Amino acid sequence: MSPNITLTSLKMASTSPLILRVVATSVVVANRAGEIIRDIMSKGDLGIVEKGKNDLQTEADRSAQCSIIASLSSQFPGVKIIGEEGDSVSSDVPSDWNVTDSDPSVLALKCPDNLKSVKEDELVIWVDPLDGTSEYTQAWISKVTSLLDHVTVLIGVAVGNKAVGGVIHQPYYNYLKEGAPLGRTIWGIIGCGWGGFTIGSAPKDRRVITTTRSHLDATVQSALDAMTPDEVLRVGGAGHKVMLLLEGKANAYVFASGGCKKWDTCAPEAILHAIGGKLTDMVQGESYHYHAEVEHRNSRGVLATAPGEDHSWYFSRIPESVRQLLSGSSTSSR
Ligand SMILES: *[C@@H]1O[C@H](CO)[C@@H](O)[C@H](O)[C@H]1NC(C)=O
Repeated sequence: MSPNITLTSLKMASTSPLILRVVATSVVVANRAGEIIRDIMSKGDLGIVEKGKNDLQTEADRSAQCSIIASLSSQFPGVKIIGEEGDSVSSDVPSDWNVTDSDPSVLALKCPDNLKSVKEDELVIWVDPLDGTSEYTQAWISKVTSLLDHVTVLIGVAVGNKAVGGVIHQPYYNYLKEGAPLGRTIWGIIGCGWGGFTIGSAPKDRRVITTTRSHLDATVQSALDAMTPDEVLRVGGAGHKVMLLLEGKANAYVFASGGCKKWDTCAPEAILHAIGGKLTDMVQGESYHYHAEVEHRNSRGVLATAPGEDHSWYFSRIPESVRQLLSGSSTSSR
């Protein structure tokens, strides 16, 4: 990098609107988290801990989150950050986990008027340091490397109630292409821009639905059946499922369960909405709220559709019995 470019990006870093600085920093922070995730896999000791049924945590989740929270909270001390692995910052963070750079192409965006003057205390950052942990651990145990596709790092930025900006980093993108750089990072800000991927158009002549790989039950299945899919893609991670919508590989993402959390959907939802897709609950067909006090579970299920799809058609197909089950489960959660 020439000294001039460094100077320009430094200048932009201090003058760009806060929302752009947060997303621009999150891009670099997510890249670093991806390196940490790959390093831990290649060292061969994942340090697996069982948090609950079907809920694993590894050294990669813990270290990636530590790096993400340390970096973002050092740069944006007034922003509330909520992470899947808790939100405390450990005191001895390795200095090379503390990221201070930001992505110049995001900093240079033109910010829409409604986001220009957003302040730190209006933002909440939702972090899933490693979405698809069960695929990550299974890839390691069973050596089925294709499961690594499902692993993502998610950093979502909410303004008030609304998911507005998102970053999805895929640490193992390109692992089959020799010599190609590993990993990619996609991002989007509603009304502002998106990058890191090419928008694909979803199939027109058939209906492809993506859903959970590891949390299938009778309710999830009956909502899925009601959509009369031609093909079902069972993959891990909300991040990876929404990527299939962004890139035109699936028409809809249907998950009739309260098992998904705000840190799973904030970033993917913002990017999907930035390109004209839609993500809502399954009971009322409304967007989830992402303010700091909201319940962490998406207890009313997740229905997401690719740009150009008729979201209301999918919503209308959800069986009444599923809707009732999902509206009842909201009382039993935090
Ligand atoms: C990260 O680096 C910044 C800038 O050098 C520093 O102010 C901050 O204290 C560091 N944060 C942590 C958690 O080490």
